[in-house]
Amino acid sequence: MPRAPVVARTLPSLRRTLESLRTRRATVALVPTMGALHDGHLALVHQAKRRASKVVVSIFVNPTQFAPHEDFGSYPRTWKADIAKLTQAQVDLVWNPDVGTMYPAGFATRILTEGPATAGLEDRFRPHFFGGVATVVGKLFTQCRPDVALFGQKDYQQLKVVTRMAADLDLGVKVIGVPIVRERDGLAMSSRNVYLSTAQRAVAPMLHRVMKEAAKRLRNGGNLETVMADGTKTIGDAGFALDYFEARHAETLAPIRSLKDGPVRLLVAAKIGTTRLIDNIGV
Ligand code: PAF
Repeated sequence: MPRAPVVARTLPSLRRTLESLRTRRATVALVPTMGALHDGHLALVHQAKRRASKVVVSIFVNPTQFAPHEDFGSYPRTWKADIAKLTQAQVDLVWNPDVGTMYPAGFATRILTEGPATAGLEDRFRPHFFGGVATVVGKLFTQCRPDVALFGQKDYQQLKVVTRMAADLDLGVKVIGVPIVRERDGLAMSSRNVYLSTAQRAVAPMLHRVMKEAAKRLRNGGNLETVMADGTKTIGDAGFALDYFEARHAETLAPIRSLKDGPVRLLVAAKIGTTRLIDNIGV
């Protein structure tokens, strides 16, 4: 049975453990998470182990990236199962601060994000989100000082925002995006999938099917407007309340008018019942 990772809950304990890990020129990879770990997170850990000699996973449900009406209170918290998975994956250190450690009394600083954070995708529907993410990820980077950090491509805009922020603030960390891990029926793995009822779970893979079909039609020369309009209709007909289904430049996230403006990424966000799902695919 592999040894359980060290768990640090205070900054002094995090620093002490990192110092001991960093002996003999070890490199450190950070996998930031909010817990409720699934195979998508484990793919990040797997990549982290390939790219660094020591792996730190942070588990922190970050209140500043949730709006008051969102699911901060009910976000799944599965500590025991998470630690069992991280033990099996042979992670070295779990950074698990509480809210008071991350945001001590009087905390008054927030990273202001522009560029990819104002692309008009997630930011249109969750205006609080990227400020909260950038601030906590900025703190995680300065607390853990990793050489590399791994993020899932499922949160595609988040990946671009964090990459930009790390470069803009000279944080000295290489941000790496890891491909989406999907269930057998194509649904992108997400900690929030547990919210889906059986009926909703049966419909949820439709998002991926629509994107795959749209990407195929576009690659085969389909008209962008027609393809996107057809996808939008299919998603609506399946019972989703659509936030957006858009074709964007894969790097800048700028709107595109044709595939010639590419590389192109299709991005979708839609609610089924009260659960909001996001997904994306390269064309
Ligand atoms: O993607 C997530 O789980 C979170 O947004 C992150 C990056 C851990 C920041 O809280």
